[in-house]
Amino acid sequence: MEIRFEEAAVSFGDRIALHSLNLTLAERRIGVIGLNGSGKTTFARLINGLLKPTSGRVIVNGRDTAADDRAVLADVGFVFQSPQNQIILPIVKDDIAFGLKGRGRKPAEIEAAVDAILARFDAAPLAERRAHELSGGELQLAALCAVLVTGPQIVILDEPTNQLDMRNRARVEAIIAGLPEHVLVITHDLPLIEDFERVLVFHEGRLIADAPPAEAIARYREVAV
Ligand SMILES: Nc1ncnc2c1ncn2[C@@H]1O[C@H](COP(=O)(O)OP(=O)(O)OP(=O)(O)O)[C@@H](O)[C@H]1O
Ligand SMILES: [Mg+2]
Repeated sequence: MEIRFEEAAVSFGDRIALHSLNLTLAERRIGVIGLNGSGKTTFARLINGLLKPTSGRVIVNGRDTAADDRAVLADVGFVFQSPQNQIILPIVKDDIAFGLKGRGRKPAEIEAAVDAILARFDAAPLAERRAHELSGGELQLAALCAVLVTGPQIVILDEPTNQLDMRNRARVEAIIAGLPEHVLVITHDLPLIEDFERVLVFHEGRLIADAPPAEAIARYREVAV
């Protein structure tokens, strides 16, 4: 797994959301921190190709996200900052199955894969529930299942503990720790990324630190106050 930013930059009109960035990522646990509006989500959206750089290139496993976005989407799973925005079908198990349809898999195989992913996270009771009736933590879990079931190599979680109670927060933390996939977590919950291999700090659209957690968090504190 390798993600490479080559002079990649993003502007929305005359607003620069991300200044030109050169960076290579291959670690299994990467944290992304910074103030609101600092460019974290913009940076992450470049990785799965849903957002294309205004200039420069983003290369995921050797493929340019601007040229080969379907292949990139298959490698990179993304759980949105507001997971209700990624629910497509009303019933949880149908929504999880949706990502597996149209890939030439038999219905029985799809059902088994959905059951397995729900069981993996002790979420079987959610299967028949209506997604829009779920609590924030349940929805977070359903969205994670819908992403992981497709077998991505890397999973991006945008503020996965936002709005969770202590119990669900601890649960999400344990789930992240146990994921065999590469994980990139954007968060304001600094203890969540304390044990990560590498932490990136964004500030006003610029990467201002790329370091182990303690050093990166200290740098974030400097600019936050
Ligand atoms: N689609 C868009 N159109 C215009 N401006 C945008 C768009 N998306 C993001 N921006 C702007 O780009 C900047 C970076 O936004 P981004 O969502 O990446 O921030 P963030 O670090 O994820 O913040 P937060 O912690 O609040 O989620 C902000 O100033 C934002 O207003
Ligand atoms: Mg964001």
